[in-house]
Amino acid sequence: MILLDGNKLSAKIRSEIAARVGEYCGNTIRPPHLAAVLVGDNPASQAYVRNKIKACEEVGFTSTLIKKDASITQSQLLELIHELNASEDLDGYIVQLPLPRHIDEEEVNLAIDPSKDVDGFHPNNFGRMALGMSSFLPATPMGIMMMLERYDIQTEGKHCVVLGRSNIVGTPIALLMSKKTKPGNATVTIAHSRTHHLPELLRSAQIIIAALGIPHFVKADMVSPGTVIIDVGINKIEDPANAKGYRLVGDVDFDNVKDKCAAITPVPGGVGPMTITALLENTWRAFRQKF
Ligand code: GUN
Repeated sequence: MILLDGNKLSAKIRSEIAARVGEYCGNTIRPPHLAAVLVGDNPASQAYVRNKIKACEEVGFTSTLIKKDASITQSQLLELIHELNASEDLDGYIVQLPLPRHIDEEEVNLAIDPSKDVDGFHPNNFGRMALGMSSFLPATPMGIMMMLERYDIQTEGKHCVVLGRSNIVGTPIALLMSKKTKPGNATVTIAHSRTHHLPELLRSAQIIIAALGIPHFVKADMVSPGTVIIDVGINKIEDPANAKGYRLVGDVDFDNVKDKCAAITPVPGGVGPMTITALLENTWRAFRQKF
């Protein structure tokens, strides 16, 4: 079994990005600049954004964290987006999701300048991705594709079952895996909460990408020997043995599944760090479109 180590691979790719920044920018060009907008005090979002900002420092990017109270109005948030769109010294930015319920996420997403949309969520980028044109790819699917490529995982002709159909992960990774690319060229099934005979379907998969947000959902009896498993889930479960009272687990019952797999990502330390590395890569690309 190959452990697909997102921490180790991210460290390698991040050092490559840092080297590019050093070589390209020297003392003459300002470094790439990413901003993150964080609305409210969702602890998971705070942790994700903190990690994104920390990763910027690691590779020599400038970063700006813009924190707003959960009571921000739709028009105030849109005003901020327009300022970020107009800012000359900013290459890309993200608005961390989820947003408070009174905010219309779709309107916010549509207001982001596609050339600064390093999350790849704007329809301009998402549509270009669907058409196989160059675009910013959403960070989690992009991180997964980078991981499959660097570990030289063969995907061509394989049956890939994607569990989950979110706009952020399930739908875009299914599209990318089906494209005429390497990695890609897979035969893709999207499974979701209404799918019939899920255990049988999963057993027919050679690649499983689990992104449904249910701890330990994929059990050993749902997996055929030799499967490649990408676990996107990050779920908190109670753990009195842990000083924090909880621990993070994926959507896959890792301990019981791992020995059946050809390759598997751990949680934490699998897809999570790759997502952030992909965001850095997108920010570098946004920067290079200007400089
Ligand atoms: N919330 C969960 N994943 C993401 C992501 O990739 N980008 C943003 N902006 N919010 C998220």
